Amino acid sequence: MARTATLTIDGKTIELPIVVGSEGEIGIDISKLREQTGAITLDPSFGNTGACKSAITFIDGDKGILRYRGIPIEQLAEKSRFIEVAWLLIFGHLPKKDELARFSQRLTQNAPLHEAFKHHFEGFPVNAPPMAMLSAMINTLSCFHTHFLQLDDAEAFEEAAARLISKVRTIAAYSYRRSMGKPFIYPDPNLKYVANFLHMMFSEPYQQYIAPKEVEDALNLILVLHADHEQNCSTSTVRVVGSSKANMFTSCAAGVCALWGPLHGGANVAVLEMLESIYRGGLTPQQCIELAKDKNSGFKLMGFGHRVYKNFDPRAKILKESCHKVLNKLGVNDPLLDIAMKLEELALKDQYFVDRKLYPNVDFYSGIIMKAIGIPVNMFTVMFSIGRMPGWIAHWKEQHDDATARISRPRQIYTGPTITDYVPMDQR
Ligand code: ACO
Repeated sequence: MARTATLTIDGKTIELPIVVGSEGEIGIDISKLREQTGAITLDPSFGNTGACKSAITFIDGDKGILRYRGIPIEQLAEKSRFIEVAWLLIFGHLPKKDELARFSQRLTQNAPLHEAFKHHFEGFPVNAPPMAMLSAMINTLSCFHTHFLQLDDAEAFEEAAARLISKVRTIAAYSYRRSMGKPFIYPDPNLKYVANFLHMMFSEPYQQYIAPKEVEDALNLILVLHADHEQNCSTSTVRVVGSSKANMFTSCAAGVCALWGPLHGGANVAVLEMLESIYRGGLTPQQCIELAKDKNSGFKLMGFGHRVYKNFDPRAKILKESCHKVLNKLGVNDPLLDIAMKLEELALKDQYFVDRKLYPNVDFYSGIIMKAIGIPVNMFTVMFSIGRMPGWIAHWKEQHDDATARISRPRQIYTGPTITDYVPMDQR
């Protein structure tokens, strides 16, 4: 018999269906609640609200589990490349050889930007934040690829997805070049996704930069680990925008805007700034911990805590390990790593953090790796955006293909004035 939950409100009892996910999670379906009782649910910031059913990513925050399409993140981090993961997330299965070859070819073909599109960069001041340029330019793709605004067949969708994944990398590199006042470097069709990005970032017209394998692998790992994380703030934004049937480019540009904030993807920049401030003697690790515990300080331990993980973030575990390996291989001795480890050690034995189950999240160690491989700090959140693009596209598609999906439109409990008469100007 189907399970139900019983709710009694003002003497009236109703049965609410229980929806069970493939990993046994349960959700109470309240979609008919208002119709049946006149009441709505109130869940500010959606901590207890399932906004959709999704088959893309599974997280068990209590056990520290993350899986893309069922495959544990640890396996993907060890064995997979970013493009393979992108396909997996978007199309639901690991690509066969011919699918991967076709997708890679589409990525290569779509790496260059339209010359007229490139001129848009000149309108930005050189000190424009790369995240602002990135979201603006992704939105601008809607102007240059108008035939991909409606994506109603599989072929057009695959091409549009490849365009976006490929062009976000070129746009990201050009945003950096613009911010440095450097000439744009054309993509090299002979290079793979990550190597090509690093070439567009760091080559000069007179000298090509070919990234060492360790650098390429480290960035590949970062992109794989960031590729999806179910209904986080930016992905939910993409879904909300997409629910109005807005096109995929524009919906993903909105995702970049949501990601920028320091409580979300912007935390990777904030972590590095925090570590650097400790290094410069601004405050000691212990003072930093004390400040984070003081609610009046407005300061949080950046890179710590997560809405869903109440145990180790598995991505942070992988990155911490990889951080040591990458720094060793590159012969980099970064005192910020020692500071990060000291902070982690202090926090993990401090009652405040223990009681609240606050652990390092994905942003805690990623910045140290990115710094070691030469990514400038103002590009950290841009790297996150490149990584998250397949996830955003997968969620946009899942919703687009769902014939039952409706426009996202939450309700509210109104707390403003009750009916009030208009007062003419001379009587106010
Ligand atoms: N430092 C100090 N205290 C914290 C921190 C932190 N980093 N994170 C949470 N807390 C406290 C909260 O103030 C709250 O305290 P209270 O119970 O005494 O009021 C308690 O821990 C529980 O917080 P949550 O409800 O679990 O936090 P929420 O889900 O609202 O926020 C968030 C999650 C935004 C990630 C938060 O932990 C935070 O601001 N962390 C720092 C920023 C950061 O690293 N963001 C990146 C997240 S991962 C990502 O988006 C890629």
